[in-house]
Order: sequence, then C-alpha cells, then structure tokens
Amino acid sequence: MSAADAASAPAFPVIGDWTLRRAAGDDLDQLVALERVIFESDAWPAKLWRSELESPYTWYVAVVATAAPDVVLGYAGLLALPRAHDADIQTIGLAAEVRGHGLGRELMRQLHDEARRRGVREMFLDVRVDNPVAQGLYTSFGYQEIGVRKGYYQPDDVDALVMRLTLEGLDTRPSAATRPTEGQ
Ligand SMILES: CC(C)(COP(=O)(O)OP(=O)(O)OC[C@H]1O[C@@H](n2cnc3c(N)ncnc32)[C@H](O)[C@@H]1OP(=O)(O)O)[C@@H](O)C(=O)NCCC(=O)NCCS
Repeated sequence: MSAADAASAPAFPVIGDWTLRRAAGDDLDQLVALERVIFESDAWPAKLWRSELESPYTWYVAVVATAAPDVVLGYAGLLALPRAHDADIQTIGLAAEVRGHGLGRELMRQLHDEARRRGVREMFLDVRVDNPVAQGLYTSFGYQEIGVRKGYYQPDDVDALVMRLTLEGLDTRPSAATRPTEGQ
C-alpha cells in the first residue's frame, strides 16, 4: 500500500473478539473454502474469487479474529465501476460461529462507506427469496425490493429479490459496540 493509500485508508472497527481488514490475494484459499461452507451449491469457484480480488473496481473486506488476523471468518465485497453512480453488493458471508454479533451490519456499513468514497449514489443487491435473515439485514438499512429474478440461483432454481438503496442521508456511524482501530 502506498503512503497516499494508507493516509486515505478507512479505520476499521473492533467488534467483540473480531476486527475487519481489507481482503487480499493471500486470502484466496481461505475465502474459497469458507464460501463453500457458507453458500454450498451457490458457492463461487476459485477462478471467480481470484478475478474479484484482482479487479480494480471491487473492494473486499474480511472479518478476522483480532488475535489471529490471518484467519478469515467472514467477508463482503463491493463492485463499483468507474464513472458509474451505482454499485453492487457482490457478496456477504460469515462463518456460522461469528453470526449474530453485529458483524454483518458492520460489513454492510463499510461497503456503503467505500461506495460513497467512490461517488456512488445507489446500491443494488440480489438475495435469495428463502433467506429472511439477509433480507432483514438489508431492509434494516432501507433497501427496498424492486424486482424478482426468476430461477436466478441454480442449481437450486430459487428466485432472487433485487433490492436497491439510495445512499444519500444513510446513517453509517459506528454503533456503540464498536471502536476505531488503525486502518489496513
Ligand atoms: C446474513 C449475515 C451476513 C448477517 O450477518 P450477522 O453478523 O449474523 O448479522 P448481524 O448480527 O449484523 O445482524 C444484522 C441484522 O441481520 C438480521 N439478523 C441477523 N441474525 C438474524 C437471525 N438469526 N434471525 C433473523 N434476522 C437476523 C437482523 O435484521 C439483524 O438486525 P438486528 O440485530 O437489529 O435485529 C449472516 O447471517 C450470514 O453470513 N449468513 C449466511 C450467508 C448469507 O446468507 N449471506 C447473504 C447472501 S445475499
């Protein structure tokens, strides 16, 4: 990371025993393995993960144990194309043992903050119709359903809800449970 990049890097919070950091190419094998456990039949292959991590238009954050920052326990990613005013939440997933502690909410907040830094005004995402937990997370930020993609998730043949959020006016302040740490 250059000095200029370091100066503009976000400060990631500590939440309980965990913290966030930028995901990098070195995390590829762990991300692929974790993805298989979390998403099973919907899991992205290693080739897709590699291109996501290498793209200049994506931004990935990993959840790690504060005491063991090499061990990836979760992740989330943003795709914001140059000159576009909209961006996509590419994915978000946490190991089962770290769910329910506010990390999903913090990952979303970080992606929204990065999207804003890139000049994004509107966010889009897809979510399985049979995933009420993720839908609850998204609607709590104000995401609204704007359409359905029939049979989007294969081979399960499950529909996707398409959701949209206007970033303007969204409150992305850290919750009381978090405290800032040095950016990565
Ligand atoms: C979706 C996911 C990222 C949420 O992360 P998390 O850290 O467990 O969620 P948080 O603790 O930050 O909770 C945020 C919100 O999610 C929803 N939520 C979390 N756990 C929930 C549960 N067990 N039941 C219902 N809603 C729940 C709630 O809306 C919650 O807000 P609240 O705490 O104000 O009620 C996580 O459950 C996960 O990785 N799931 C498997 C992968 C997945 O489904 N990814 C989404 C693909 S579109």
